[in-house]
Amino acid sequence: MSLSHTAVLLEEALEWLNIRPGGLYVDATLGGAGHTQAIVGRGGKVLGFDQDPEAISRARALNIPNLTLVQANFRELRDQLHELGIEAVDGILADLGVSSFHFDDPERGFSYRMEGPLDMRMGQGELSAADVVNSFEVEDIADILRKYGEEQRPGRIARAIVDSRPINTTTRLAEVVRKATGFRKAGHPARRTFQALRIYVNDELGALEDLLEASEGVLKPGGRLVVISFHSLEDRLVKHFLRDSRVLEVLTKKPVLPEEAEQRENPRARSAKLRAAERIGGRA
Ligand SMILES: C[S@@+](CC[C@H](N)C(=O)[O-])C[C@H]1O[C@@H](n2cnc3c(N)ncnc32)[C@H](O)[C@@H]1O
Repeated sequence: MSLSHTAVLLEEALEWLNIRPGGLYVDATLGGAGHTQAIVGRGGKVLGFDQDPEAISRARALNIPNLTLVQANFRELRDQLHELGIEAVDGILADLGVSSFHFDDPERGFSYRMEGPLDMRMGQGELSAADVVNSFEVEDIADILRKYGEEQRPGRIARAIVDSRPINTTTRLAEVVRKATGFRKAGHPARRTFQALRIYVNDELGALEDLLEASEGVLKPGGRLVVISFHSLEDRLVKHFLRDSRVLEVLTKKPVLPEEAEQRENPRARSAKLRAAERIGGRA
């Protein structure tokens, strides 16, 4: 199992966040704390959010100075800041999705390559991927695959899933999808199905929308929002939200992509896109 997570677009994120010594930043997706440590290294103070208790424990063990840990879904940003007595922050970073710690641990059920229970929960939500696969109606499963996986044959896969119940492991689900769809040139045949279930189980797009809305209210004038996304559904949501916002000014006309060297060295970086915006009103 890999014991690290390489922070994606690290230099670019720091630059767009415009870190000021003594400034207060929210790292909405603490994960392996790579971005957080870099922000602290530049003199920033960080509120590190993660819904995964394991990420919080790992970060606690690192004893990072100027870091306050918050185990919560980032969709609760406003309430959590309120509880901490904080009204506004200088910047917010969200590096979306799951971390290598999730993918590389078969027990979390995110990987179609390693056998494990069909779980896929990042936090402590009630619904697991196994619940969806084994108890949802065929039409509802097809809908999830279409909406969140942009799967081209959602009906066929959903029918195969329902006909193969119970499905309790990752590799069994991957096999059912492979049989239903046949060989594909581009990527593993189960990749989109796994992406769709993960997004649904964690309500990733709903949480992102809530975070974007909250950021409008908690950024100081001149404060920056930086979002790194990994698939088109997320990126589209961020792009449209920023375009329509009355209080956030887009700083990146086109998304910032990793340099070639980073893409070569870190396969996870290949699909990364960074967008940044600034709360209007100038520096307070
Ligand atoms: C891609 S990793 C972040 C990696 C981190 N930037 C680093 O440098 O190591 C995303 C992390 O955000 C967490 N996460 C994803 N969605 C979340 C949400 N809605 N609320 C809180 N944490 C979330 C995941 O549990 C995961 O640990």
